[in-house]
Amino acid sequence: MTRIFSGIKPTGHLTLGNYLGALRQWVEVDQHRADSVFCVVDLHALTVEHDPARVRRLSRQAATLMLAAGLDPARCTLFVQSHVDEHARLSYLLECIASDGEMRRMIQYKEKSVRERERGGSVRLSLLTYPVLMAADILAYGADEVPVGEDQTQHVELTRDLAVRFNQRYGHTFVVPRATPPKVAARVMDLQDPTSKMGKSHESGAGIVYLLDEPEVVRKKILRAVTDSGREVGYDREAKPGVSNLLEILAACEGTGPEALSGAFSSYGELKKATAEAVVALLRPVRERHMELCADPGRVDAVLREGAEKARAVARPTVDAAYRAIGLLPAG
Ligand code: TYM
Repeated sequence: MTRIFSGIKPTGHLTLGNYLGALRQWVEVDQHRADSVFCVVDLHALTVEHDPARVRRLSRQAATLMLAAGLDPARCTLFVQSHVDEHARLSYLLECIASDGEMRRMIQYKEKSVRERERGGSVRLSLLTYPVLMAADILAYGADEVPVGEDQTQHVELTRDLAVRFNQRYGHTFVVPRATPPKVAARVMDLQDPTSKMGKSHESGAGIVYLLDEPEVVRKKILRAVTDSGREVGYDREAKPGVSNLLEILAACEGTGPEALSGAFSSYGELKKATAEAVVALLRPVRERHMELCADPGRVDAVLREGAEKARAVARPTVDAAYRAIGLLPAG
């Protein structure tokens, strides 16, 4: 059976980008067709300046939202990365076959390290090695597929390179995975700056729809979205980034393609209204289930405890095999 692994980093409140680019696909498709493992990757949240209490809070919130969105613990494994030691164990081995040049070429490292320096902070070494930990997340589970948004495909490419290299040098140990981004909305853009990604930690929240935003806030953000010059509603990401982003969001909500919707609106205003209502309707059940789950934190804890046990049982044999293959003496 196909094995799937993917994760969300608790560095901010989850966004519409996370939902359309990843989570929704996990819920609606992946958990029904594959042996699926999903993770709140909290160790990754420590790679930039962080507040411990906030990371803890956001980790719980991410897990709760993943359940609220419809991940079903009877169909998939849901856990928190730091609860399973195998990630950190394997990450070190992979650091021993990765090169620093390879890490410095990662787009996210380049962008984030500049941002950290601009803020006057130092760049944590873990920000540079982050993609290796991500590779460990994936390879520990022998995942065939990694459903992620477009921004993560370079990291999955690196994971493939590391898996192939390890297998060639030390014998076949890892499955070589591939990224499986969604066909529509693989890169949802910021509503106020449609040339940059809608990200959890963008400076102002005005261009970001958060999954837990009140419906009125969602409407306001979408109705105020930046659009492009001209009046024609057409899909062209280069020439009309704002309108194309809205078309893509609406298409994702309606399960169609953005080109198919292009001719359906006679003004930008109409498109914005339709998009706002579609997003509000899409997020309503998630918000409602999130509220129910918040009233029952014991349930979330129990899911995460069981999830970690299941995850450990899958990851340990692979990571142990990697330790043996690379030349480490097995413990007695
Ligand atoms: P993270 O937490 O930034 O995002 C989680 C998932 O949401 C997708 N995503 C988007 N998709 C479309 N449009 C957007 N604007 C948008 N913003 C986010 C991301 O592509 C991702 O699929 N490094 C990862 C977390 C990670 C991981 C892993 C993922 C760590 N280990 C192993 C897969 C497998 C990250 O920072 O995702």
